[in-house]
Amino acid sequence: LILSQSKLESITDSFFSCFLKGLTTKATQNEESNEHEELMTQVMLPSFVSRLPTGNETGTSYAMDIGGTNLRVAAVTFLGEGRTEIRQKHFIIAEELKTSGVEQLFQWVAEKVEESIVEDGILKMGVTFSFPIEQQTIKKGVAMKMGKGFNVPGLSGYDVTELLNSSFKKKNLNIEIVAIVNDTVGTLVAQAYKDPNTKISLIFGTGTNAACVVPVDAITKLDSTTKRDKKGDDDDTVMLINTEWSLLGHDFLPFTQYDYTLDAQSDKPNFQPYEKMMSAHYFKELIRLVLLDYIRKFGLFGGKEVESLSHPYSLKPELLSRIQSEKDTNKVATILHDELKFSQQQLENPDDIIALQKIIHYFATRGSQLSASGIAALLKLLYGDYSNIKSNVTLAVDGSFYLKYREFSDGIDNYLFSILGNNTRNYVKLVSAENGGSIGAAMVAMLYSK
Ligand code: BG6
Ligand code: GLC
Repeated sequence: LILSQSKLESITDSFFSCFLKGLTTKATQNEESNEHEELMTQVMLPSFVSRLPTGNETGTSYAMDIGGTNLRVAAVTFLGEGRTEIRQKHFIIAEELKTSGVEQLFQWVAEKVEESIVEDGILKMGVTFSFPIEQQTIKKGVAMKMGKGFNVPGLSGYDVTELLNSSFKKKNLNIEIVAIVNDTVGTLVAQAYKDPNTKISLIFGTGTNAACVVPVDAITKLDSTTKRDKKGDDDDTVMLINTEWSLLGHDFLPFTQYDYTLDAQSDKPNFQPYEKMMSAHYFKELIRLVLLDYIRKFGLFGGKEVESLSHPYSLKPELLSRIQSEKDTNKVATILHDELKFSQQQLENPDDIIALQKIIHYFATRGSQLSASGIAALLKLLYGDYSNIKSNVTLAVDGSFYLKYREFSDGIDNYLFSILGNNTRNYVKLVSAENGGSIGAAMVAMLYSK
């Protein structure tokens, strides 16, 4: 599981080639286009966000963030000098809503929006949609295939803004959606409000993804009319790109038998292989599969399966990080007994507990290594060569997996600089950007409603 330095570098090169190819590959009607070309049209998605904040903007703006786990509704007040205040409500998206129709999902969204900010009257709002969208304008985006356990009939292939507007209308809500962005794009803009050196954003949460700022000229997949329109405005020489990097890696990631099993048993086999190896949603499932296999094959924990391991995707990532970071095996035994209902008898051998901790450790380490490769490849895209990084560059990071799982985030830091070289440490900064999706969408709404 633990990858050598040369393997990490070769994975980084593969990501880099895909990023380059993704910027240039247009969707065509050409029936001869192969699977790889088709994939390249689905990554490096133009966001149509070309304006970045200066940090001096002031006022209140609204956002709603449809994520993989939560819906967030927020009022964000920008105070100038990069300072913000956020009033935000979270609502957990029930499992049924992830697979029922779009009507049910967006009706529920409209209810929660009404509950949260109705007192504020008529609103202009930015939407964060933490799934891929094929952007046509700043406020028009067509939903693409969704991951993270979402299968919402009537959503993929349709304009998300139009669907949301119609749910708002049914509730007589006076909301105007002025922008729709991916969560990575929101996170980059949110951090750019505080720090103009922000060039990349990363999400390591339920899913994983990254965005970066590139010159409009480099996006050859953008049609020439859009490019001309963008460049008509003096400020619009750059555009944020939503990489959707989770789709990459079929042909270069080092899969284990557990990755193959997880993929085959997932609701979307062959989809988002990178995400399946290291985001929180799949990490917990990988550990469940490995643990079950060790119980069955090697007699771990007395060779007896427990009921709590029989439900796919039921483990909690927080629980796994607690188990792994606890030094006292007696305390881990208590967690396994209380939370996962292992019997006392199964927990008598501390070696079994240490084995479980190692399993979690190795998979988390692999996750950090793979994340570091993706990040290094983005820096290569922006700078050509790591030795060209000679001024500060900030990478905004959000997502529960990064913010709450210390071993994973420390690992990213460690492996990233092993690829980039220690001399870049003075310039490259990974900064936590909590609530980036909401703050950024509110800022984009402000920048684009002028
Ligand atoms: C939040 C951002 O803080 O992190 C969201 O505001 C983002 O936009 C989310 O989607 C990702 O984390 P998780 O763990 O909820 O998937
Ligand atoms: C998934 C989605 C992507 C999102 C990411 C993080 O990979 O496809 O759009 O940004 O999760 O939430």
